Amino acid sequence: MQTITVDSKEQGAEEICNIVRGELEAGRLHVLGLATGSTMEPVYEKMVSSNLDFSDVTAFNLDEYIGIPADHENSYAYYMKKHLFSKKPFKQTYIENGMAEDLDAECVRYETLLKENPLDIQFLGIGENGHIAFNEPGTSPESVTHVVELTQSTIDVNSQYFSEDETMPTTALTMGISSIMQAKKLIVAAFGEKKRAALEKLYAGEISTEWPVTYLLDHPDVTVITDQKF
Ligand code: GLP
Repeated sequence: MQTITVDSKEQGAEEICNIVRGELEAGRLHVLGLATGSTMEPVYEKMVSSNLDFSDVTAFNLDEYIGIPADHENSYAYYMKKHLFSKKPFKQTYIENGMAEDLDAECVRYETLLKENPLDIQFLGIGENGHIAFNEPGTSPESVTHVVELTQSTIDVNSQYFSEDETMPTTALTMGISSIMQAKKLIVAAFGEKKRAALEKLYAGEISTEWPVTYLLDHPDVTVITDQKF
């Protein structure tokens, strides 16, 4: 595992874009796994204002809420369109359909797409409770794309984005730990004190189901970009 320590989210975004540029120029980036959340916003801003060309790159997103449509401003489909896809053309973009009638079939469809388009790079943020994508504490390392019941901690953190008269979904679709670990290269971004506990578990070097981020210790190519010093 490699760590790049930065002073700010913006500097972190710059570092991520540099890695992406290097992989693109080396002809190694055909499929890019994307993440959502406030951590990723400066990254997409930098990607948009750069001259990077993604028109030959297929994108996959990690996760999506169940029960809110793609045009709902809190759906991850909406987030991606707003921050990246409406401004930078990609060859193809995929995200789980949280409105699918048959959610199990949707998981199988998504996992099949991932098998057909192996991820070259996967971006990851971290939840305060150590989740990656929506793989909450207790998730099996063998998990593939699945339906998840969000933990109260995730609901508490993410409900800040929903207005008072809305109820935040309590279930979601997420790529599993195993789906994420298939990516050739993982880039983890975590900024601020609130992510410190999860990072401490990662740097402690012991894999624990209770802290899904620690599964990354088993991956051969992980770069952590953080403003926290250890
Ligand atoms: C959400 C997403 C994760 C993301 C995390 C961190 O729950 N499902 O994929 O990494 O929260 O979000 P933020 O960057 O806003 O802290």
